[in-house]
Amino acid sequence: MCQSSSIAVVCSTSRPDSTTARIVTLYREILDENHGCSSELLDLKELPHDFLHSVLYQKDRMAHPEWGFWQSKVDAIDKFVFVIPEYNGSFPGILKCFVDALKFPGSLRGKKASMIGISDGTQGAALAMSHFGDVLNYAGVTTLPLRPRLIEINKYWEGQRISNPIYQNLLAEHAKLTVAM
Ligand SMILES: Cc1cc2nc3c(=O)[nH]c(=O)nc-3n(C[C@H](O)[C@H](O)[C@H](O)COP(=O)(O)O)c2cc1C
Repeated sequence: MCQSSSIAVVCSTSRPDSTTARIVTLYREILDENHGCSSELLDLKELPHDFLHSVLYQKDRMAHPEWGFWQSKVDAIDKFVFVIPEYNGSFPGILKCFVDALKFPGSLRGKKASMIGISDGTQGAALAMSHFGDVLNYAGVTTLPLRPRLIEINKYWEGQRISNPIYQNLLAEHAKLTVAM
C-alpha cells in the first residue's frame, strides 16, 4: 500500500533515447516494487509537436487538445520527482518552457518535489538542480534536501540496469524519502 499522495516522475528532457528516460523507468520501478506506489509519467519528449508555437505563452493554450490533458495531469499531482540531466551547466530549456506554460500560480504552489541529477561529466547536474531548485522555490514548491548527483552516468550500465551499487542505493534512499515527504 503506497504511503504517499499522488506522485509524478518527470523526464526533464525531450532528447530521444536519453539516459534520463532510463533513470525515470528505473525510478518508477523502485517506487512500485519497494513502496507499492504507482506513479504518473510526465515525459517532456511527449509534449505536443507544436508546443513552442501553439502552447507556450499563448492565451488560448488551454484550448489545445493535448495541452489541456497535460495541465489536468499536473493539477492532479501532489508530488513531483524531476530527473534532471546537465545541459550546458544547467537544466534543459524544455523544462523551463514546460513550467512557463503551466497555469500560474495554481499548478505548483503548495506542492512537493524532489530532484535527481545526472551528467556525463563530473558535476552530476549539481548546478542544474540548484538553478531548478530556485525556480521551484519561486513557484512555492517544497523540495527534498537529498539531491543525488549521478556523475559520469553513462559509464555505469549493464543493459537497462545501473551497475554502480552506490547509485542503486542512492536512488532507493531517495525514493524512500520522497514517499515519506
Ligand atoms: C545539449 C546538451 C548539453 C550537455 N551539456 C552537458 C554539460 O554541461 N555537462 C555534462 O556533464 N554533460 C552534458 N551533456 C551530456 C549529458 O549529461 C549526457 O547526455 C547524459 O547522458 C544526460 O543527458 P541525456 O538524458 O540527454 O542522455 C550535455 C548533453 C546535451 C544533449
